[in-house]
Amino acid sequence: MTPQSILQNPEISEKLLVDSEELASQVEDDTIRLTHGEKYLTSQWYTGSGEIAHKKDGRSFEVSATFTLTAEVKVIEGVFQPGNETLANIYNSRGRCVAVIDQTVNELYGEQVRKYFDAHEIPLEIMAFRAWEADKTPETVHKILGFLGKDGCDVSRNEPVLIIGGGVLSDVAGLACSLQHRRTPYIMVGTTVVAAIDAGPSPRTCTNGKQFKNSIGAYHPPVLTLVDRSFFRTLATGHIRNGMAEIIKMAVTDDPVLFELLEKYGPRLIETHFATIDADEKLAEIADEIIYRALFSYMKHEGTNMFETYQDRPHAYGHTWSPRFEPAVKMMHGHAVTTGMAFGATLAVEMNWLKSEDRDRIIALCQSLGLTVYHPVLEDMDIMIEGQKNMRRKRGDGGLWAPVPRGGIGACDYIQEVPPELLETAVAAHKAVCQTLTNQGAGEEMYLSDLGLE
Ligand SMILES: NC(=O)c1ccc[n+]([C@@H]2O[C@H](COP(=O)([O-])OP(=O)(O)OC[C@H]3O[C@@H](n4cnc5c(N)ncnc54)[C@H](O)[C@@H]3O)[C@@H](O)[C@H]2O)c1
Repeated sequence: MTPQSILQNPEISEKLLVDSEELASQVEDDTIRLTHGEKYLTSQWYTGSGEIAHKKDGRSFEVSATFTLTAEVKVIEGVFQPGNETLANIYNSRGRCVAVIDQTVNELYGEQVRKYFDAHEIPLEIMAFRAWEADKTPETVHKILGFLGKDGCDVSRNEPVLIIGGGVLSDVAGLACSLQHRRTPYIMVGTTVVAAIDAGPSPRTCTNGKQFKNSIGAYHPPVLTLVDRSFFRTLATGHIRNGMAEIIKMAVTDDPVLFELLEKYGPRLIETHFATIDADEKLAEIADEIIYRALFSYMKHEGTNMFETYQDRPHAYGHTWSPRFEPAVKMMHGHAVTTGMAFGATLAVEMNWLKSEDRDRIIALCQSLGLTVYHPVLEDMDIMIEGQKNMRRKRGDGGLWAPVPRGGIGACDYIQEVPPELLETAVAAHKAVCQTLTNQGAGEEMYLSDLGLE
């Protein structure tokens, strides 16, 4: 049967054409193309289109499909102040809000959250989960699914779940949402620095595997991320410091102005928990500017490559070897990332991609914020080579795609190959640089156990 005869056969074409007004069909090079219309969306945030091309041999066809999402990021004040309409406007028309909240955040802010929804007369179904790094497991995802799924709230696939917490909760609860009905939207209120500027708006939801961090997951970004730095007031200083690592990452690879702001105001922002304790209006404005710049810079790259269909990702700076050594020595994520970044900068110097003065500025900034730039685990070549191999496998055949700064602060390039000899030389060079530093490059409260998260 030829494509033309298929198109002319009313029985077959009726089956193919679900809605003849919405579907475009054309005959091109003996191929019939049919596309689906956009009339009956399952959710306001997602659209898609597809094409099915029937080949002239009458025995094969090819399908191509695209999926489009919208994801908004907003820096706001007082998200759970009764006068703030942002969440009420979303949940009012839906008749309820199903929320997942970090256990500690629930203890600190649960009452405020409940009062907010009471004030707006929106029924709230909320469940608290402990979300330590040790809880970043498939079991936690299953527990959350128990709450969201048929045996729990029976969340529908166009009902945005509200997630309130740090990066661990955003990763595991985001993954649960990606599994609930295969894709259920969610709104993220990040209550830590990491969740506010990085893990929160990120599409990479996940749990840890046995040896590698974040190795099981799905691309499923929140449809809305609300960033409210007032939560940082109650956050432990060690977590504020930890979050700074992800801001430095974007400053080094993408935004030299952000880097200078961090050099000037970073220590004060840690002391004042991002201008939420003992700070004046000027520091509050700077805190907002730093958060906004970090978010914009991050989403400029992440948001335009949501499904990692491209390998060149500046925000992977510091994340090439660390996914292997971070769990091995139970480091805080931010400290592992700065260790990876500082090492990456030395590697860039060894490759003549970066001047040593720029590397020293990166190290000095991390140190001024109490972040780690050297850990003896770097000398464990088995771990480093295994980490590198794993990253190569994950990133595909193209190469290692390890971003490091090149040509100065605010720009980066990608290393495709790090032979073991170069790896060893760079580690030795990095160790020599860090030997002269305070505590040989170790940071403050650098282990999970320091902050009771083990
Ligand atoms: N998906 C991504 O792209 C991405 C990016 C960066 C980091 N991450 C992941 O994020 C995780 C780290 O996230 P994190 O640093 O937010 O840690 P976290 O989620 O463990 O939160 C840190 C601690 O602070 C508590 N907490 C949260 N908000 C609080 C508040 N306002 N006041 C007081 N206590 C509060 C939590 O209960 C927890 O004990 C890591 O597992 C990392 O892999 C993911």
